[in-house]
Amino acid sequence: MTKIAIIGSGYVGTTTAAVFASKGHSVICIDRDKPKVDAINNGECTIFEPGLKELISSSVSKGSLRASLNIAEAKDSEVFLICVGTPMKADGSADLDYIEGAAKDIGSALKDRSKYFVVATRSTVPPGTARNIVLPAVEKASGKKAGQDFGVCMVPEFLREGHAVQDFTNADRVVIGELDSKSGDMLNEVYSCIKGPKLRCGLPEAEMIKYMANSYLAKDISFANEMANLCKSEGIDYWTVKKGAQLDSRISPRSFLVAGLGFGGSCFPKDVRAIRALAKKNNLNTFVLDATLKADAEQPLKLIEQVAKDFELKNKKIGVLGLAFNPDTDDIRESKSLILIEELIKRKAKVLAYDPKAIENFRKESNLNAELASSGQELIDKSDIILIATAWKEFKDLSYKDKPVYEGRKLFDSANPPKNYKGGICW
Ligand code: UDX
Repeated sequence: MTKIAIIGSGYVGTTTAAVFASKGHSVICIDRDKPKVDAINNGECTIFEPGLKELISSSVSKGSLRASLNIAEAKDSEVFLICVGTPMKADGSADLDYIEGAAKDIGSALKDRSKYFVVATRSTVPPGTARNIVLPAVEKASGKKAGQDFGVCMVPEFLREGHAVQDFTNADRVVIGELDSKSGDMLNEVYSCIKGPKLRCGLPEAEMIKYMANSYLAKDISFANEMANLCKSEGIDYWTVKKGAQLDSRISPRSFLVAGLGFGGSCFPKDVRAIRALAKKNNLNTFVLDATLKADAEQPLKLIEQVAKDFELKNKKIGVLGLAFNPDTDDIRESKSLILIEELIKRKAKVLAYDPKAIENFRKESNLNAELASSGQELIDKSDIILIATAWKEFKDLSYKDKPVYEGRKLFDSANPPKNYKGGICW
């Protein structure tokens, strides 16, 4: 059992804390947001992730998980995991202020510490951040020496929102970037409760592994959409083509080749731009990343064009089913649903939207002028045309009657679509 402090209780921090606490570690979440801290201490959580709330309430009740606003309460932790946000700056590069702030807070809280500790970054950060930002910030704030008084690691998260708990507990791999073997040994011990091969490497290699993985996945999505758009233009069934291509042992059946509206979320758009910005700083071209982003930006509009070919959009009531960027999450960050709504409003359509979990976040975070339905069925009953924008499983069981239905995300079984099914964005 290790005493772990998680700095930042967002999607990554809360999931990491809950899983480690459920595996027997003693975990404290530190966050500046009182509602988040109170929720965790009440065995609740302020985000939706399947299985997360249950893990939090069982860990809090058995005393292995708690939360606090005050990092001083974590000062006897052995491992500090930085899970704060790295938002995108105007030039696409990663804003590392929260990372540096967390490192400084940890250093200040440990000024009088004699026992060895490790500071590990879990947030997605450009190569060089652990060594050039985290390490000096902790040294300066604590007056201690890295490699002697404390260790430094980089342990990237590979969690898909909507699958975060299972992706963490059954990890494809755990990457442990380490300043030295003493740092890495401590993290290896912490992660011994997580299944999956462990890769130990240098700090910048661990930082770069995360960017390469996410850029690769995002590239696959744009590539899938390009192939699917071509298939649709030729009257070819993309899903058969995808299936056939994935019979090649070099193209994994799990690869990200599901065509649709493109990639949303807080990771792919930000991470691809961040690594592109780093390349540009090194005077390198990023032809593949540039094309990935360009293709992704154009994709959602194809669905609107498709509907506009069949119907006059002005004054039509268009029902947008799904606001979250992914099913099984309440997160609407960079969700393609928002692009659809914005474009429909621009074209003078009236928009009615619904999502099983993301309505609260939509109300809080979006100023788009869309009416909100209280259920998927109400949306269908009140709309002239239906767009599937997030593939929530529950949307399959709704009664679409004779309403025209367009798929932005693959949801229906091709053999059994709704009565007035008008096809998909690129199928
Ligand atoms: C991603 C990575 O998958 C995860 O490993 C990393 O740690 C964080 O970023 P996330 O963005 O949460 O996870 O969800 P993901 O399931 O990857 O979906 C991202 C977006 O791509 C969603 O909008 C999804 O609809 C879309 N997508 C995904 C596709 O359009 N096609 C696919 O085949 C897969």
